[in-house]
Amino acid sequence: MSHSRSVVVITGASAGHGRAVARAFARRGADIGLLARGRDGLEAARREIESLGGRAIAVPVDVADPQQLEAAADLVEREFGPITVWVNNAMASVFAPVMRTRPEEIKRATEVTYLGAVYGTMTALRRMVPRDRGTIIEVGSVQAYRGMPLQAAYCAAKQALRSFTESVRTELLHDKSHVRVAMVRMPAMNTPQFVWTRNRMSHKVRPAPPLYQPEVGAEAVVWAADHDRREIEVGVSTVLARLVNKLLPAAVDRYLARTGYRMQQTEEFVDPDQPDNLWKPVEGDHGVYGPFNEKAATRSPGMWTTRHRGIMLAAVGMGALAALSLAARRLPGRLPGPGRAGLRGRLATPMPGRRSVWGT
Ligand SMILES: NC(=O)c1ccc[n+]([C@@H]2O[C@H](COP(=O)([O-])OP(=O)(O)OC[C@H]3O[C@@H](n4cnc5c(N)ncnc54)[C@H](OP(=O)(O)O)[C@@H]3O)[C@@H](O)[C@H]2O)c1
Repeated sequence: MSHSRSVVVITGASAGHGRAVARAFARRGADIGLLARGRDGLEAARREIESLGGRAIAVPVDVADPQQLEAAADLVEREFGPITVWVNNAMASVFAPVMRTRPEEIKRATEVTYLGAVYGTMTALRRMVPRDRGTIIEVGSVQAYRGMPLQAAYCAAKQALRSFTESVRTELLHDKSHVRVAMVRMPAMNTPQFVWTRNRMSHKVRPAPPLYQPEVGAEAVVWAADHDRREIEVGVSTVLARLVNKLLPAAVDRYLARTGYRMQQTEEFVDPDQPDNLWKPVEGDHGVYGPFNEKAATRSPGMWTTRHRGIMLAAVGMGALAALSLAARRLPGRLPGPGRAGLRGRLATPMPGRRSVWGT
């Protein structure tokens, strides 16, 4: 699909990963609806998109309100035409143990991170399904598969979004719709999240390594819009974490209990005047990056394997064939009696009273 005439809506586009996604689509000449709450960030993002050759409108929206999303989608379509790609990216979180989190904070993080994506998906489906075209991209996380300490509300929201996405996808398949829904699972990225997330701990928040710059995730989102894949892993860490958790969940519990608090906090104390973005946006333009530029990688080998899945599968297939042919060559020496032809002959010989596997 060419993006020369695509109309892309991105939630959480005023800062961080969403803003990087907006830049990436702008470089493809897309028309973009930038959705978030903070006007300073939205306006700065709009100017950036225009300087990159795209067209954009900034729409102040709280994704926890489905009516605001509906109105925003109408506005984007009036300005640019039918929406072709919708990216659910906005998030809010509370960094604290559950025992020190208030019920209304969990509710709000869930309303933004989970329900915001649900409402966004429904808003997009209402437009895309009757036209039988369009792609919805859910920005996921490895934490959709593994809960971390101090991030219960966020991890639960991402887990819920994963199930919701699977249900929607099966319904679209059932209806033989050409509308697609894909999930792009992100590793840790260097975004303002680690500065403005509500934090009840004494020390500043940091991402668990390995860490990537948001452009790595953004590139994967643009790639997901072009390719028919149900899930895309960005970074080998997301694959490994999922695998290890599947095989050894209790060991991962103990590992995270021992290391998870330290791993996610810096040595620096929290600034008591630092505002958070749970209920309202933090004033000013916060751009794409968080404070960890020197630690963040700009490329992901995991994304290379995703892009070149054909080559990887061919390499694995050729390796398997080579191993099989080596084993077959060594087999006759090990077996008493006839060689390879004889082996097939032996397999073909029916047991007394039975038909053989070759149907004779
Ligand atoms: N950074 C990571 O390590 C990481 C790892 C895995 C997955 N992800 C995923 O990547 C996505 C972006 O994360 P990020 O790190 O870029 O977050 P971020 O830096 O905190 O940016 C969040 C964005 O969401 C917007 N937002 C927050 N509350 C909103 C609301 N109620 N309504 C509308 N917009 C709202 C913010 O803008 P306003 O405040 O102006 O509204 C901002 O544009 C999320 O889905 C996250 O789960 C991130």
